This record gives sequence, C-alpha cells and structure tokens, in this order.
Amino acid sequence: MPHSTTADVYDLRIVVIGAGMGGLGTALAFAKKGFKNINVYETASNLGFVGAGIQMPPNVMRVLGRLGVAAEIEAEATNVQATSIRQGSTNEELAHVAMPDIREKYGFPHLTGHRSNLAGSLYNGCLKEPSIKFHFSTSLVNITSFSPKPTLVFKSRDQPQEFTVEADILLSADGIKSPTRSLLLRASHNLTQTEEEDTGQAAYRIMLHRSQLAPFPELISLLDSDTVVRWVGERRHIIAYPVSNHNIYNISTAHPDTNFASATSATYTTKGSKSQMLSVFETFCPLVQDMLNLVPDGEVCEWKLRIHKPLPTWVHGSVALVGDACHATLPHLSQGAAMAIEDGAVLAEVVSKIPADKINDQETVTKTLKVYELLRKPHCTALVDLATHSGRVLHLGEGKAKEERDKQFKENGKSGSVPDKWASPDVQKMIYANDCVKEAGERFGELFASL
Ligand SMILES: Cc1cc2nc3c(=O)[nH]c(=O)nc-3n(C[C@H](O)[C@H](O)[C@H](O)COP(=O)(O)OP(=O)(O)OC[C@H]3O[C@@H](n4cnc5c(N)ncnc54)[C@H](O)[C@@H]3O)c2cc1C
Ligand SMILES: *[C@@H]1O[C@H](CO)[C@@H](O)[C@H](O)[C@H]1NC(C)=O
Ligand SMILES: *[C@@H]1O[C@H](CO)[C@@H](O)[C@H](O)[C@H]1NC(C)=O
Ligand SMILES: *[C@@H]1O[C@H](CO)[C@@H](O)[C@H](O)[C@H]1NC(C)=O
Repeated sequence: MPHSTTADVYDLRIVVIGAGMGGLGTALAFAKKGFKNINVYETASNLGFVGAGIQMPPNVMRVLGRLGVAAEIEAEATNVQATSIRQGSTNEELAHVAMPDIREKYGFPHLTGHRSNLAGSLYNGCLKEPSIKFHFSTSLVNITSFSPKPTLVFKSRDQPQEFTVEADILLSADGIKSPTRSLLLRASHNLTQTEEEDTGQAAYRIMLHRSQLAPFPELISLLDSDTVVRWVGERRHIIAYPVSNHNIYNISTAHPDTNFASATSATYTTKGSKSQMLSVFETFCPLVQDMLNLVPDGEVCEWKLRIHKPLPTWVHGSVALVGDACHATLPHLSQGAAMAIEDGAVLAEVVSKIPADKINDQETVTKTLKVYELLRKPHCTALVDLATHSGRVLHLGEGKAKEERDKQFKENGKSGSVPDKWASPDVQKMIYANDCVKEAGERFGELFASL
C-alpha cells in the first residue's frame, strides 16, 4: 500500500456501525485497502449469531477471496451442485437445475454454510488487522452532525455517560431497523419515517440434526446430497439444504403472515406454535410433514419478512448507509448478506480514490459516497425487486399462471430461464458474473464527473 507519512486518504477516521455481515465486510475491506483508523461499534456484547444457514453465491465469494477469507469459509461449507424444485403437495420434481460448473463459469463456487461460519471468518479476518478496533456493547444513539465531520453520540453498557465521537466518514450497517436511516432521512429530506413495503410474508427457520432425521432414509439422502430443494405451494414454499459438513439440514419457509399482521412494526421475530406451523403446510406431501414434525415443541421460530420502499438517498454529508439499512430484501434470491458485503468492498474502493489534497474537502467526500450509491442502488434495487417477483411466482395458486409456470419449470432452464429466479441461469449470470469492485474501479472517474 502506498503510504506516506503526511496525512493521506488512509488516515481518514472511518467509523462503522454494526458488526453484522455488512459492518464486518466493510471494516475488513477498508483495512485491506490500507486504511489505518477503523472503529466498529456494535450494540450486542459479542457476535452471537443465531444458528441459521446462509447461501454464499459466487459474486460474494469473489469479494471474500480478495479479503483473504474465502478458504476458511470454503473448508466448512457445502458446494452446491444442483437445485431441485418440487411440487409441495406431491414431491414431484418440477425442475432439476444442475449447477456443476458454477466455479468454471464464474471463477468461484456457490456455497451454503452456517451464518456463524461466514461471520466468524470475517471477524477473524478483522482481528488480524491492527487498524480495526471493535467496541461491543456500544450503541449509536444520535448523530448531531453529518458534515463536514460526522459527530456521533454513543451509549455504552459499561459507562453511565453518553459520549461523543467525531469521524471523517460514517458507514452505517445497522440493519433493517437502522437508526442511522431515520436520522439521515430526517436530516436530508425532513422525513419522519421511511415507508415500509408490506411483504405479507413470514418465515419459519428450522435446523434438524442428522440424528433427528435418522428414521427417514429419504431425508438422510437429502442431507447427504449437494442439492438445494425448494418445495412450492400456493402462497408458501420451503427451501432446504445441508450445512455443517452434511450434519445439519437447514430449512426455511415463506408463507402468509398472519401472526405479525396485527403486531407493531417493532416486532420481527416470535416463538411460533408447532401445530400452527404444521397447519400452514398441511397440503404438503408426507415427506415434508415428517420433516416439519421433527421440530421439537417450543423450538419453532417465526420471522416477519420486512422490506422498505427504495430510499430517496443512501448518503448525506459524510455518512452512507450499507446493507439491509438501505436495501433490505426478501430472502428468495439469497443475496441479502452478499449485497451488504459487496457494498463495503465498493465503498473501500471508491473512498480510496479521494486524492490526498481533497480529504478535508466536503464536496469531494460527499460526491465520492454518492458514486457508491450510483454504483450500488440500481443493482440492489433490481435484486430486491427480483426477489419479490420470485416470491410471487413461487407462491402462485391453482390456475393458468401456475400451469404456465410449471411448464416453464419442466423446460428445466433449456431456454436459459426458470421461474424461480434464484435458480435461473440467466439471472445467475447477471448476478454471479458481476464483479462490483472491478466495476467501481473502472467507472469511478466517469460517475464522479457526472455529479
Ligand atoms: C429468513 C431470511 C433468510 C436469509 N437468507 C439469506 C441467504 O441465504 N443469503 C444471504 O446472502 N442473505 C440472506 N438473508 C439476508 C441477510 O441475513 C441480511 O441481508 C444480512 O444479514 C444484512 O447484513 P447487515 O450487516 O446489513 O445487517 P445485520 O446483519 O442485521 O447487522 C446489523 C448490526 O447492527 C447492529 N446495530 C443495530 N443498531 C445499532 C446501533 N444503534 N448501534 C450499534 N450497532 C447497532 C445490530 O446489532 C447488528 O449486529 C436472509 C434474511 C432472512 C430474514
Ligand atoms: C436456512 O435457509 C435459508 C434460505 O436460504 C437461510 O437464509 C436461513 O437463514 C436458514 N435457516 C436456518 C434455520 O438455518
Ligand atoms: C439528536 O441530535 C439533534 C441534533 O443535534 C438534536 O436536535 C436532538 O435533540 C438529539 N436527539 C436526542 C434524542 O438527543
Ligand atoms: C418538516 O416537516 C414538518 C412536518 O411534516 C413541517 O412542519 C416542517 O415545516 C418541515 N421542515 C422543513 C425544514 O421543511
């Protein structure tokens, strides 16, 4: 890294809010670029990730490779070879999309793994960087200035007094409930609240261990496979795949939201009732019923799936939003965490382009962050819309539209497209081939000049 002893861009005080996928990815990307002063603030007392699975598509593996953490992730993950899309009611296969050549096509594999594997690898990567300091149990409670220098108010669990931190650039990956988003939109657009898009959908998340599946040979063979299975039905579906070296079968559903519809907007998860879960999927085949029946009573966890309408801006002054804070998505395309990590890598790329004599120039800093928004917002908005569209198509009820969809599934992507956008070769090409960091490097000058 080209460092000089006088102040240059690498001396900028970078503050990151949130140590989720987006925050960890952002901090590591800045450190790898050569930034020397990175502070990460996180409300939680440790990483404590819930035991859920996650898909890691090739576009994010490309970024993780550059961050030096791909090998650690790959060692524990499952390399997906195929997707099987099945009629929920009969277990009949609608489409079998082979994905044996993902690595050859895109240079990186499509993996499924444990959320803790991805987050843990990013965190271990961060711990090796002396430029990154973590402040756990510490919440951002207010932003009193967005420019020229962001001024942040924090509350730590360890001390009674709130304290103030000044940054040069604030990057907030504070998740779907992002307090930064509210403060930023109030400051920039006098908006008192952001518009939530009602998805009408909720999700159960389930993990079953090999020992629980043992009585059912058909489920064991799914656990031993390298296949992602999607069972689709009217207004609901189930997606499942092996994680943890084929020892855990990870199951996640989407179905109409009845439990949260009446709840306050602050409610995101709840303990679900097992009998209710079984009744949601009562029209599904015996194999699915057997599988859901294995979930222990009292361990049913239901999530409300929430997204927002596209924001009027992601940037104000020297502050930018990252990840779910600015583009929360339905999970049907499996790109939420990937987009958050890519955001951080793109930010590090563009911010590093600020010339040394402009690091204190407000206009240059804001324009640079705006270039990030120009690079990412059209792409992320398209993916969020595709995920919503995919959900709609997967959840069709009986009728013409469903017959047409099932016909398209049966063509097995021979036309280069299947209705489940996650498994569709044309969409995979658009998303997986995307090298967001390279694009940022190539287009920075043109986009900066356009502002
Ligand atoms: C059912 C479901 C399935 C999914 N499956 C996938 C998948 O297969 N693949 C995929 O790529 N994505 C998936 N996602 C999406 C993915 O989980 C998110 O998109 C991703 O975690 C977003 O990362 P983030 O860093 O933006 O936010 P988060 O991971 O939510 O992190 C935000 C962090 O900020 C902290 N924070 C919040 N407020 C403050 C504050 N005031 N001060 C300090 N810290 C604060 C929080 O404690 C948290 O740690 C799924 C999501 C759902 C709901
Ligand atoms: C498993 O699969 C989904 C869909 O890909 C994933 O996002 C979710 O976090 C996982 N749920 C559990 C309980 O493992
Ligand atoms: C947050 O900061 C703004 C700007 O300084 C101030 O007007 C507001 O009262 C603060 N809010 C809280 C809760 O302290
Ligand atoms: C902000 O919005 C409030 C309420 O919508 C309005 O009363 C106020 O005049 C607005 N302020 C500015 C600066 O536009």
